[in-house]
Amino acid sequence: MQNLKATSLAHPNIAFIKYWGIKDHELTLPVNGSISMNLAGLETKTTVEFIDDQQKDELQLNGKEISGAGLDRVTKILDFVRLAAKIKLAAKVVSENNFPTGSGIASSASGFAALAMAASTAAGLSLETAALSSIARLSSGSASRSIPGGFVEWFQGEDHSSSYSKSIAPQDHWKLADCIAIVNQEHKPIGSMAGHRIATSSPLQSARIQDTDRRLDICRQAILKKDFTALAEIMEIDSNIMHGVMISSSPSLFYWDPPTLEIMRSVTDWRKDGLAVAYTIDAGPNVHVICNQDNMEPVSDRLKTIPGVNQVLTAIPGGPAKIID
Ligand code: PMV
Repeated sequence: MQNLKATSLAHPNIAFIKYWGIKDHELTLPVNGSISMNLAGLETKTTVEFIDDQQKDELQLNGKEISGAGLDRVTKILDFVRLAAKIKLAAKVVSENNFPTGSGIASSASGFAALAMAASTAAGLSLETAALSSIARLSSGSASRSIPGGFVEWFQGEDHSSSYSKSIAPQDHWKLADCIAIVNQEHKPIGSMAGHRIATSSPLQSARIQDTDRRLDICRQAILKKDFTALAEIMEIDSNIMHGVMISSSPSLFYWDPPTLEIMRSVTDWRKDGLAVAYTIDAGPNVHVICNQDNMEPVSDRLKTIPGVNQVLTAIPGGPAKIID
């Protein structure tokens, strides 16, 4: 029997226009489209092996055996792949991140993108980028955006195959950088999955959704034209609108810590002083500060002087998910 094993590598991504809220939980269909940039240097490596005499799926994440909800999300993708490849074998999945899990850097995005890629290759499937991104989406919406390379748009779609991601510009299109100010490495108390479920409880969510196509257009154009001023403005507004929805949900989701706000204020002050920088924040307290690659070091140095910033990770635009073994 052939060796049903493959190892893949995928990067997390940072959304400039955010996804928040789900219209179909079984398929993870989002209520709005989103746009992101892959983050090179930060990566998940995942090996999937379908094994003959194994009873059930097993998951090892960063050296620890995982069961329960984490394993269920892995099995969801494995089940889809098994059905498509017509195999019945259980799998052993071993996954490692080189960055902190669960702290606002989307480890689920790179994790499920790497899983979709490794599992489908191990099972002998040969799939297009769009189909792979739809599979990754099943267990984490943002994972759909970590399959294509560079700057990526995820189309919300209406069913499994119409909700997929596509590269709108390659990784070398624009020399941007992400300086990630880590203020808290703890696992966040309420993960994004629970957050998506209560997004409609905010009276602001419908207004956010209604205006999303406009923000997507502005962001897409800003990327294509490499217009930092336009990107900065729309990125910060979009992040603030999403956090407005989070804060006004029931229960209220307040992800910021005091240093988070300090960084937001500093970044807007630096921009007024002429430095090309902009912030965006996911479901956690850490702040992604986008700048030009030439300014990556000075921006990191400035961030490190802000009290409460423990560490600054840096990344440049990353490529697509790929098989490495
Ligand atoms: O894919 P999830 O369930 O981890 O949700 C991601 C949600 C945000 O990171 C807050 C926004 C986004 O578009 O990445």
